[in-house]
Amino acid sequence: MQPTSPIGVFDSGVGGLTVAAAISEYLPNEQIIYFGDTEHLPYGDKSEEAIQQYALKISDFLLQRNCKMIVIACNTASSVAYQLVQKYFGSEALIINVIDPVAEAVAANAQQKVGVMATRRTVQTGIYPQKISHLRPDLHIVAKAARSLATMIEEGLFHNKKIMAAIIEHYLADPDFADIDSLILGCTHYPIIAKDIHQYWQQNAIQPIQIFDSTDTVAVRVKQLLTTHQLLNSSKETPNYQCFISDYTQSFEQASQIFFKQKIKPQHFDLWGS
Ligand code: DGL
Repeated sequence: MQPTSPIGVFDSGVGGLTVAAAISEYLPNEQIIYFGDTEHLPYGDKSEEAIQQYALKISDFLLQRNCKMIVIACNTASSVAYQLVQKYFGSEALIINVIDPVAEAVAANAQQKVGVMATRRTVQTGIYPQKISHLRPDLHIVAKAARSLATMIEEGLFHNKKIMAAIIEHYLADPDFADIDSLILGCTHYPIIAKDIHQYWQQNAIQPIQIFDSTDTVAVRVKQLLTTHQLLNSSKETPNYQCFISDYTQSFEQASQIFFKQKIKPQHFDLWGS
């Protein structure tokens, strides 16, 4: 592991780019290699075993490219595969999941009731309620699966404000969410529609809420960890971001352009030999 080595970031699709973009803003000297497993999206509907296999193989791919750190920029993979990735590769690179930093931020700031919106798999694991209750047993936490939302965002429907407003209402108008003071966007695809979600709450909420997601919070954690291990890249060269996808989709290519200041060209990489 060298300070000049890249940071590897992965997700099932474009969602993890929200985390990669936050890292690039916060740590502009760092090289980033991104892997979007578009062939297997949505992870949220896959079995734990399948997601674990994907996460291990992608982590291995990133390590072969000499990454000093692997950011599991997917809540679903973080919830079922983080420990395994840590076990297999923790001696070769620093491993970060996107759930712990958010759970800690929520525990430090929420008042009484927290809503979690995430994929079906993430909700089924109960990981957010477990982690937050461990830190703040007094908080009441309600978690809801927003099943098709990540796929809709991946397909580029986030540009269609009408459709997004309708789907956000469909998930957030749940009576269990009516009196929350904090909302966790527990899927890395959701920050892409954070503005629409804010707008929904401004128009409909009884009380103002705080929204937590895994963009800046995770970027701060990345910096802390690299600093502790003396692995921050101090080179002043403009980084050259690389982006790989397991299946070429036009929607990924289009969506990926909104994240970075420099243009990136996603390359198809046949990781699964199909
Ligand atoms: N972006 C991913 C997450 O944070 C999952 C989306 C999916 O593939 O279902 O959970």
